[in-house]
Amino acid sequence: MSQPPTIAPSLAAALRAARRVAVLTGAGVSAESGVPTFRDAHAGLWAKYDPRELATPEAFERNPKLVWDWYAARRAMLADVAPNPAHFAIAALERRVPEFLLATQNVDGLHQRSGSTKLVELHGSIARVKCSRCAAPAARWDAPAADEPPRCSACGGFLRPDVVWFYELLPAAAQDAAEKAARRCDLFLVAGTSAEVYPAAELPEHAQRAGARVVEINPQPTPLTGRVTDVLRGPAGVMLPALVAAAFPD
Ligand code: APR
Repeated sequence: MSQPPTIAPSLAAALRAARRVAVLTGAGVSAESGVPTFRDAHAGLWAKYDPRELATPEAFERNPKLVWDWYAARRAMLADVAPNPAHFAIAALERRVPEFLLATQNVDGLHQRSGSTKLVELHGSIARVKCSRCAAPAARWDAPAADEPPRCSACGGFLRPDVVWFYELLPAAAQDAAEKAARRCDLFLVAGTSAEVYPAAELPEHAQRAGARVVEINPQPTPLTGRVTDVLRGPAGVMLPALVAAAFPD
């Protein structure tokens, strides 16, 4: 069995001493659960599909059934996956730190399934559905017709996944809470994100400007790498449990 990665004693000490911790996660944290990331050169969703055809309001306007079916297929795939050690390490950290917030870009619900409770979903959730016209949430919906998504029982508009598409605003309450936590934290973890999509990618910058220690966890460098305090270069499912175990050996 391979050796657990070495965590710098100063980083372990900083996490153990931290009173306020904020975390930003992206698709990479769910990669070890078998959920494809978006921008991985070959296996990423955007390598296979054109986001302009599937993840914009215009795409839904043009072909609502294609978009509905694509998200329905992703929702079905998620039923067969489970949280991995990265998710459980973040949930464990939440229980160890006095003030904690997880801001996730992930719509897969795996953080909640691993026990995370102090979190905001910056890009919504694939498990939720709402009306594209009146925004009413839909707890249940009929099977889609052959050529269109199910319709809203209140206004008859097409139903859509309650996720944030490109060119759409983030949920204000989630963004506000994430920005506040980033500006208040002592230590900010950024795990499994390419740090290319804004405004989420700005959160580590807010933390840094506020004097926090910023730690990147990613097997690959990102545009953020040169500006963080610590880099844990490896898979989140290995690096995050090692970091939490180093900070809280008891
Ligand atoms: N552990 C940690 N990081 C990983 C792992 C892993 N096992 N595997 C891959 N990664 C890293 C990749 O190196 C990459 O930097 O995860 C990152 C995934 O980046 P993206 O695919 O761009 O996903 P993300 O940053 O979450 O995308 C942001 O863009 O498409 C939109 O709305 C969508 O929320 C998404 C947003």
